Amino acid sequence: MDNDVKIEKYELLVRQVESLLDGETNMIANMANVAAVVHAAMGFWWTGFYLTNHEYGNHLRPEHDNLTEQLILGPFQGPPACTRIPKGRGVCGTAWQQKQTVIVPDVEQFAGHIACSSESKSEIVIPMFRRDDVYAVLDIDSRELNTFDEIDKLYLEKIVALF
Ligand code: SME
Repeated sequence: MDNDVKIEKYELLVRQVESLLDGETNMIANMANVAAVVHAAMGFWWTGFYLTNHEYGNHLRPEHDNLTEQLILGPFQGPPACTRIPKGRGVCGTAWQQKQTVIVPDVEQFAGHIACSSESKSEIVIPMFRRDDVYAVLDIDSRELNTFDEIDKLYLEKIVALF
């Protein structure tokens, strides 16, 4: 996608997300709508959230979920995906551990990539922070190589900061 077109789409998307989140405080409902608009606007292959087990625990407190630090599948758009990812594993667990956005131009070159779908070729994962702690990540997969760059990072970080 041409950079100008991409920026224009993201500018519109940020405004859409702002208005979707306006007045709704339920995080899961907001994640569901944000996954839907980001996925539709940008034409990604898979767009979704993983929440830390600690974050789920804050709401549900299932005892076994608190044994190891892991991400658990949240609202998403696209084909079914892996449900649990330990901290430090895969692209998602790495973004959580490193507390920074991870861009993977070619998933086959990323040691430890977790293949939920053989169609995924490149990926970006954006951690979401509450104070200094990661409570969730936004994970996006593309069916093409080299889809994500600094423009995606900039706007997707802006979008998750709206939560
Ligand atoms: N590929 C991810 C796992 C999640 S799926 O892409 C939806 C990873 O390596 O963390």
